Amino acid sequence: MKWKIPSQECLSDLSKEIKSPSVEEKLKTLSNFFPGKIVFSTSFNIEDQLISHFILSNKIPIKIFTLDTGRFFEETYKVWENTNKFYGYSISAYYPDQEKLEEFLSKNGPNSFYNNVKNRIKCCFLRKVEPLKRALKGNFVWITGLRAEHSLDRKKLNYLEWDSKYHLIKYHPLYNWKLEVIEKMVKKHKVPYNPLYDKGFLSIGCAPCTRSVKCGESYRSGRWWWEDDSIKKECGLHIKK
Ligand code: ADX
Ligand code: SF4
Repeated sequence: MKWKIPSQECLSDLSKEIKSPSVEEKLKTLSNFFPGKIVFSTSFNIEDQLISHFILSNKIPIKIFTLDTGRFFEETYKVWENTNKFYGYSISAYYPDQEKLEEFLSKNGPNSFYNNVKNRIKCCFLRKVEPLKRALKGNFVWITGLRAEHSLDRKKLNYLEWDSKYHLIKYHPLYNWKLEVIEKMVKKHKVPYNPLYDKGFLSIGCAPCTRSVKCGESYRSGRWWWEDDSIKKECGLHIKK
């Protein structure tokens, strides 16, 4: 292995190593460089399903995990189940800290995210960000389904990044892919995907915080739809501070 521990400096070398146009080849190369230290986080959105397909149909040794907030749509749990069955694999799950969640919900009730942004951010922190820290611990590469098309902020990213918060390499294999191409491939390979997608749910998060988007509305406008557009539509997973 060329790099014992990854750093920001190895990014340019690494980007040369993963020049292959094939996502599968790139994932294989990365998993060879960092065996046992490379993970993919899935929220079961359509792009995540295609990444899982690349990993699982090629048996690439990359651990797949989800952060189960406990508030997913029933349809999302079904996709999780169907994915496990389709590929004969078990996606790992991480859960919120029980005590901290009990304390928050006992004080604020189950749906306090609708009341103010502070509660919403706290709920996302407890249900997603804190478990993510545990899921990433000890790993060198974190693969995500982030894409440039998602939002103006995400357009400023790179497909390969150094994550100074978690001290690891972050890789977004479908970063420049268009949704139509992803959808076509998912359907061609009969990859399980969320039926809500066909009902206009482009970006799917927790059930109480996601609604469908109409033609012409922005990709992530169905997320935390009651909040003002000036507030960044992010849960904190991808915020670097
Ligand atoms: S979020 O920050 O608004 O929630 P988004 O739903 O766009 O993120 O998903 C972007 C990427 O973040 C996904 O492709 C996935 O890699 C990761 N992600 C988001 N939510 C989860 C989740 N609940 N579990 C695991 N990974 C997730
Ligand atoms: Fe809580 Fe909504 Fe964030 Fe899910 S998306 S963690 S329910 S605030």
